[in-house]
Amino acid sequence: MVRSIDVAVIGAGAAGMMAAASAAQRGCGVVLIDHAERLAEKIRISGGGRCNFTNLQARAECYLSRNPHFCKSALAQYTVRDFLDLVESYRIGYHEKKLGQLFCDEGSQQIIDLLKSECDKAGVVWRMATPVGAIEQVEHGFRLAAGNEVWDCRSLIIATGGLSIPPIGATGFGYDLARQFGLPIVPTAPALVPLTFEPKDLYADLSGVSIDCEVSLGHASFRENVLFTHKGVSGPAILQISSYWSPGQALSLDLLPGRDARALFAEAARSEVLLPNLLAEWLPKRFAQAFCAAQLDIRPMKQYLPRELELVASRLHDWRVIPSGTVGYKKAEVTRGGVDTAALSSKTMAAKSVPGLFFVGEVVDVTGWLGGYNFQWAWSSGWVAGQNA
Ligand code: FDA
Repeated sequence: MVRSIDVAVIGAGAAGMMAAASAAQRGCGVVLIDHAERLAEKIRISGGGRCNFTNLQARAECYLSRNPHFCKSALAQYTVRDFLDLVESYRIGYHEKKLGQLFCDEGSQQIIDLLKSECDKAGVVWRMATPVGAIEQVEHGFRLAAGNEVWDCRSLIIATGGLSIPPIGATGFGYDLARQFGLPIVPTAPALVPLTFEPKDLYADLSGVSIDCEVSLGHASFRENVLFTHKGVSGPAILQISSYWSPGQALSLDLLPGRDARALFAEAARSEVLLPNLLAEWLPKRFAQAFCAAQLDIRPMKQYLPRELELVASRLHDWRVIPSGTVGYKKAEVTRGGVDTAALSSKTMAAKSVPGLFFVGEVVDVTGWLGGYNFQWAWSSGWVAGQNA
């Protein structure tokens, strides 16, 4: 027997639940289908278990996309304030950690419960642990096989996310479906991801060291912590810049942001203090030692020639490192690239060439910075599609 419904949503994560609730609240019949057994695992593990669910500074500049303007319409139609109103209506306590990042006081399960409740109140039909099979276009919409059922729907919303963290349900389903309907895909890559070095033990002695740095690549620049790991570098500044990085590119690290190494050296030029000990006032001692030893032999400040100090100063403000790669999708917070926004309407999230087909959330070529931006994109794009499906 074929079941008929107005809207089918595939993927019951952040964007899918928001899209389902948004469509059902308009009075549409909605089925929400996911192959995972547990609901919204990515929300559950997000923000260290407290879900950094939005960012007060969310704006188009905080998103990467082949079309940097694409996200504006959805972000304006369903704003940070709209989601905060929803969170507050459920009396979920939250706090700003830093840089506009809002986290639940208690835990991310509260956000999952909120979204589930919004879907339930509006009568969304759930199909969890349900694999989706063939999807075809039929006269008035789409026909899809899901588990042992077949559904006909007028509108189909794809919210299957990106490729990060396959063990909790990530698949390339959304990209494959886009290709099936002839939509272009911007090449995907792990993003918000730690970077590696070759040989792996290049900076092994520094594992565990954390530095407040400004990391730059082209026009992108982030000042936050960089953490050395046994494989390479991580920490918020590296995760942020990783979304802009391509193999072979060098990162520039300003190890003394907001300070002037030349002036610091000039003040200490006649001193007996060893260079690493001087730098240890501003940098972790272990790092200062390794950094100086890699540049020149260690002597008291007064024994260096001006050109030697100039070399160290310039490297302190522009230390070039070329990562060998990323740790990949198994550790990446998100996937950059995805369904090309050129094929979608920014006002509705509908495919321009396939009436009734929508793509929302991470599967679309819109990737937010670290700090709650990706969930805001999921809420905004999901809500917009739900209003138009
Ligand atoms: P999402 O991945 O949430 O959901 C996709 C759903 O589709 C899943 O339920 C999956 O099971 C389902 N699915 C996939 N393939 C399917 C198929 N073939 N058939 C049926 N169902 C299928 N962002 C942020 O803003 N703040 C934060 O604090 C964090 N923290 C964070 C931590 C970690 C460890 C990770 C990995 C990621 C984050 N993120 C984040 C990113 C954020 O989780 C992510 O951007 C959103 O969950 C994307 O929402 P979507 O709904 O698009 O995909």
